[in-house]
Amino acid sequence: MHNQIINTQPFNDQKPGTSGLRKKVKVFQQAHYLENFVQSIFDTLHEQETVPADATLTVGGDGRYHNRQAIQTIIQMAAANGFARVIVGQAGILSTPAASHIIRKYKTFGGLVLSASHNQGGVNGDFGIKYNISNGGPAPEKITDSIFEKSRVIAGYKIANLPEIDVDRLGETVFDDGKFTVKVIDAVLDYADLMESLFDFSVIKKLLASGFKMQFDGMHAVTGPYAQEIFVNRLGTSAASLMNCVPSEDFAGGHPDPNLTYAEDLVKIMFAGDKALDFGAASDGDGDRNMILGKNFFVTPSDSLAVLAANATLVPAYKNGIAGVARSMPTSGAVDRVAAKLNIPCYETPTGWKFFGNLMDAGKVTLCGEESFGTSSNHVREKDGLWAVLFWLNIIAVKNISVEAILMAHWAEFGRNVYSRHDYEAIPTEAANGVIAHIKSQFNSLPNQVFGSYKVKTCDDFSYHDPIDGSISNNQGIRILFDDGSRIVFRLSGTGTEGATLRIYLEAFDPDVKNHHLDAQVALAEMIKIALQISQLVERTGRVAPTVIT
Ligand code: G1P
Ligand code: ZN
Repeated sequence: MHNQIINTQPFNDQKPGTSGLRKKVKVFQQAHYLENFVQSIFDTLHEQETVPADATLTVGGDGRYHNRQAIQTIIQMAAANGFARVIVGQAGILSTPAASHIIRKYKTFGGLVLSASHNQGGVNGDFGIKYNISNGGPAPEKITDSIFEKSRVIAGYKIANLPEIDVDRLGETVFDDGKFTVKVIDAVLDYADLMESLFDFSVIKKLLASGFKMQFDGMHAVTGPYAQEIFVNRLGTSAASLMNCVPSEDFAGGHPDPNLTYAEDLVKIMFAGDKALDFGAASDGDGDRNMILGKNFFVTPSDSLAVLAANATLVPAYKNGIAGVARSMPTSGAVDRVAAKLNIPCYETPTGWKFFGNLMDAGKVTLCGEESFGTSSNHVREKDGLWAVLFWLNIIAVKNISVEAILMAHWAEFGRNVYSRHDYEAIPTEAANGVIAHIKSQFNSLPNQVFGSYKVKTCDDFSYHDPIDGSISNNQGIRILFDDGSRIVFRLSGTGTEGATLRIYLEAFDPDVKNHHLDAQVALAEMIKIALQISQLVERTGRVAPTVIT
C-alpha cells in the first residue's frame, strides 16, 4: 500500500446543506470534486478530535448512480488518512438508519453516508455525501462549517493505491499485514435484529396473518432488501405486500420521495374506495423517511409523530414511557399537546436531523420528528422509515382499530393541528430571495394586522439555542404567528440542487370534532390565501400553484 498526495484546487461550492453536500452527479464527477470534500472532512476530524490509531470508518450509500465509484475512492482515501479499517455495506449499500446503527453497534469512529435522499438519481440526477459522528448522527455545524472552510483552501488530498475492493463479496480484505482492513458486511440482518428488539413482532405477525392487508412501497430504493427480510422473512407477509422493492441506480426513473405526489402507485392502491387496503407505507431513496396511509386516509407526518408519542407505551421498547420529544420548528405543534399531557418536555429545533443528536445523547428526548416525513427515536441517530412503519403496525396490532379510527380518537382527545406544506420547487434563486426579503421587510408592520379571521401576533426569523452545547443557529425560517396559535412559516430548502425551493408551512388548530373529517386544503384555504398575500409569491415568481403539496 503506497500513499500519495495529489495536488488539487478548491471548489467554491462545497458548503454542506440541511443534510450534507448534495449536487448533481455531473458536479461530483468533476476531477477531484469528491476527493476535495472527503479530504476536508478528514482534515477537520484530525483537527477537532484525536483519531485513534485503530479508528474504523463506516461507509455506505443508498445505491444510487455513482455510489460504487465513490466508495472505492473513499476507501483509498481512508487508508491514506489514518483509518485502520473500513466497514462497507454489501454492494456499497446501507440505508441511512442502518448506517447510523452500524456506526453505533460496531463503535466506529464515524461514517460517510452517500445519499441524496429523496432527490432523483441516475446520471442526470443528484448525488450526496455526509459525515456522521460516533453517536451515529449527522455531524453538527461545528464540523460542517469547518469542512466548508477547509474545502475553500484545499491544495492536496491523500490517497492510497489500493486495488479495487469487491464490495459484493462479504468478508474481510487485509492490506499490509493488517495495517488496513476492509470489511464488507450484510447490514440488513443487523438492522432487522435491531427492529425485532424494539417491537413486538409476534403481535404484528398475528395481525398480518389475520386478513389485515398491507402494502409497502420501496420506491425502487434502498429499503427493498430490508423490507423483504423484515416483512416477508420475519413477519410472514406475502411477497405481494411489497412493491418496487428491487433497488435501482436511478430509482427506475422515479422520484423516491414518499408523499402523495411521488408515491402515486401506492396512493392509488390506498385510495381505491372499498377496494383499498388497511395499511400502506412507503420509504424514500435512503430509507430514512416514511409515509403512513390508512384505508383512503393520509396521516400527516406531524400527526404521525404525535400519535407515536401518545401510544409509545404500547411498544416494548418504550413501555416504561418516553423521556421527552423534539420536533423541527416547521413541524406542527400536535406533538406538543401530547407532551403537555404526558408532562414531558418538548423541544423545538431547526430543520434537519443534526439538531436532535445532542438532545438524544443527553437523554432529554426519546422520540423526534419532522414534518418532512421523518420520525425516529434514540435507537439510532437518524430518522428511520421502516422503524416508523413497524411502530404503526405495532400500535394497530395492539389497539386493533383502523388508522383512521386512531387519528379520529387522537384528534378528539387532543384537538387537530390542521397542517399542510406547499413547495415551490426550482424557482430562480433571485426571485426566491426576493420573496423572503419582502416578508422580512414587513416584520415591523405585520404584528396586530388582521387578515380575514386571523390576527398576527408576532413574526420572526427562528433562532435556536442548543441547550446542550450552547451553540446558536440563526436564520432558520420565518415564522408568522397568529393570535389563535395558527402559524405560517416560510423557508428556503437546504437540500435542493436546482435554483431555490421555497417551502410554505401552514398550520391551524381546530379543537372542534365536527371539522375533523375536513380535507386539510379546504380547512386551510384562508391561510393559504394569506400566505400568498403576505409573500407576493405569485407576483414575484410567476408560479400560480405549488409543485408539491403535502
Ligand atoms: C428537507 C426537509 C428536512 C429534512 C431534510 C433531509 O430539508 O425539509 O426536514 O431534514 O430534507 O431529509 P430542506 O430541503 O427543507 O432543507
Ligand atoms: Zn432520506
